[in-house]
Amino acid sequence: MANVVVVGAQWGDEGKGKIVDWLSERADVIARFQGGHNAGHTLVIDGEVFKLSLLPSGIVRKGKRSVIGNGVVLDPWALMDEIERLTAQGVEVTPANLMIAENTPLILPVHGELDRAREDQNAVAKIGTTGRGIGPAYEDKVGRRTVRVADLADKATLESRVDRLLVHHDALRRGLGLPEVDRAALLAKLEEIAPKLLPFAAPVWKVLNEDRRAGKRILFEGAQGALLDIDFGTYPFVTSSNTMAGMASTGTGLGPGAVDFVLGIVKAYTTRVGEGPFPTELDDDNGQRLGERGHEFGTVTGRKRRCGWFDAVLVRQTCATSGVSGIALTKLDVLDGFEKLNICTGYELDGETLDYLPTAADQQARVKPIYETMDGWSESTAGARSWADLPAAAIKYVRRVEELIQCPVALLSTSPERDDTILVTDPFAD
Ligand code: IMP
Repeated sequence: MANVVVVGAQWGDEGKGKIVDWLSERADVIARFQGGHNAGHTLVIDGEVFKLSLLPSGIVRKGKRSVIGNGVVLDPWALMDEIERLTAQGVEVTPANLMIAENTPLILPVHGELDRAREDQNAVAKIGTTGRGIGPAYEDKVGRRTVRVADLADKATLESRVDRLLVHHDALRRGLGLPEVDRAALLAKLEEIAPKLLPFAAPVWKVLNEDRRAGKRILFEGAQGALLDIDFGTYPFVTSSNTMAGMASTGTGLGPGAVDFVLGIVKAYTTRVGEGPFPTELDDDNGQRLGERGHEFGTVTGRKRRCGWFDAVLVRQTCATSGVSGIALTKLDVLDGFEKLNICTGYELDGETLDYLPTAADQQARVKPIYETMDGWSESTAGARSWADLPAAAIKYVRRVEELIQCPVALLSTSPERDDTILVTDPFAD
């Protein structure tokens, strides 16, 4: 059986929710492997809207195993809120369909406070984070002073973990002018949430390896996008995890050989939330129109997304670094009615032409896009379910995208509705 990793191939918000939902219907197990509740996935099923941040998209379907892997940073209070919201919508979430890796680091209130204090106080270093404590939680994980899910089961362990953490945080907080952490209140909060969270805790690596051996189909659900990757993204304007496909392995405990297909989700134009370089960004009417037609507002923070032309240089790069087997191209219909469309095919920097985004921050900020202009189309592509439903100019645009990014289209999504999808290659096919 084939196992599939889904990753965003731009700066996130590529429309992963719909594709993951479409795939999760046929998967047995759906696993999150990085990020946290900074993600925002919207699923539309039979007209009902489900908003997910932390839970894997498979949770809304009966008979699936949903897994939160150790690569995620987990805010237990946000998780309980999300479970409550879904329960109110009639979705059952129990240890029978949700499993959380015991070695998952927790996001504590101190992490969110630190994230927001840094963003508020330091205009120079502002990243434009979601303020959810993601970065500080990952810092504590690699700093070997975090609290993990399994630590909640033993009072003495929990206390010693919290003490270790607070030595670091209190020093930081004094520097930032924040009050020191109330140790007793934090421990009480953790002891209160522990019995709610622990029933979901499991040796996820073991269960997934057994599932794999039993021939179950596993879908690894990435969050954010490859250009926000901590190593290969537009550093420091990135998130604090590896968002590329390789993380599916270390973020769950399955070897890299478990992955058979990497599906990169690619929007037919480009958007980004938060600060940082964006070579094809548009400050004109075209940018405004993309934002309006594409409803480009953040699911988590409600922030307006920055919009620009399709950047083939960046997507070629992320397809390479994630080993993308095929892409799902989304939101093509947002381009309907544009007379001309630009695609970025390379960059100009100091009189030279580049076919990749350089690493140096000053160069990333200075590269100028080189555009190829294509004819647009006036017909609607929304809701198309076969190539025959698409105007010739739209097919030409898609074919040119494939050529430039050196990766084939496996799926084409033409509206938020799940059935408005053109399937070229089934990622789950053996
Ligand atoms: P953080 O992940 O909250 O630390 O934010 C770091 C950067 O990643 C900011 O630019 C955020 O806007 C961006 N980011 C985080 N999560 C998402 C997402 O799900 N979609 C798009 N951008 C995101």
